[in-house]
Amino acid sequence: MRVITTTTAFSEALEAQRALGRRVGLVPTMGSLHAGHRGLVARAAAECDVVAVTVFVNPLQFDAAEDLARYPRDLEGDVALAEAAGATVVFAPAVEEMYRGFPAPRATTVHVGGVAEVLEGAARPGHFDGVATVVTKLFSLAGSSRAYFGEKDYQQLAVVRTLVAELSLPVEVVACPTVREPDGLALSSRNVRLSAAQRRAATALPRSLEAGRRALEEGVRDPGRVSAVMAEVLDGAEGVVPDYAVAVDAATLVPPRRLEGEIRLLVAATVGAVRLIDNVGVVVGEATTRSSPALPAVSAPVRGATP
Ligand code: PAJ
Repeated sequence: MRVITTTTAFSEALEAQRALGRRVGLVPTMGSLHAGHRGLVARAAAECDVVAVTVFVNPLQFDAAEDLARYPRDLEGDVALAEAAGATVVFAPAVEEMYRGFPAPRATTVHVGGVAEVLEGAARPGHFDGVATVVTKLFSLAGSSRAYFGEKDYQQLAVVRTLVAELSLPVEVVACPTVREPDGLALSSRNVRLSAAQRRAATALPRSLEAGRRALEEGVRDPGRVSAVMAEVLDGAEGVVPDYAVAVDAATLVPPRRLEGEIRLLVAATVGAVRLIDNVGVVVGEATTRSSPALPAVSAPVRGATP
């Protein structure tokens, strides 16, 4: 395992691997790695010859200074997890190495419109500019590669796909399924900040998605009605402050007039001081509804729903 802290050494290390004919896999993270990240690294290791995990708590994508300060950090643990999962390089630069002169404002940032403007983009102004800027920079340093992202952050995945396509970056984006706790809660580095009671309340997010999925299975096709069913679960959970609960077209992230084809259910809520997000995909066919990927409680295929 090689831990690299400078942009030049990172670029050169991956370039040298490519010169030997090796395929490079890239897993961008903000560290505090858990089993969700491990899934990304393991998939990259299975498909690529060399896997680089980047660990950088990107200040540009945080809207609240105290959220940035409280973001958990554990480089030693991250290096151990990354190595055990099959990574050979960890790139862990200091803020000053990535952003010279920080916190002075950047002259150059990357702005993605469209899919970046709704939901999280609307709730957290500037967030996706920060994500797009750091991801573009990491892709630029890494060069031609396959980059692995989690469906847990579904909108981020859509933003990254958009920027890769529109800026013709030499990167193939690979989406990996959300890793969950046995009770359905999606793994997140922020979960460690939940008290035991808040941790229990947080299951309202996957339960809300499951309620939305069930409504689709029962034939509900009006996005507003599915939204209402999902919101009811969040509203009924003590200590959960809902932000949004929506059923949208999986490609545009906008609610269609009628729910058909590839649909994504997305929820966001604050529990204690922690903002949590989650989502699930549902393919709504003429006569059947199927989850992709399934929530734990809904792994069986669903039959017989009529529109
Ligand atoms: P971070 O939150 O550390 O997540 C890094 C990657 O791990 C993302 O692609 C995210 O979707 C994925 N991930 C997180 N939890 C997951 C889970 N439970 N199951 C599957 N995948 C999961 O996302 C970021 O960092 C940053 O925005 C970043 C892209 C690194 C840019 O700074």
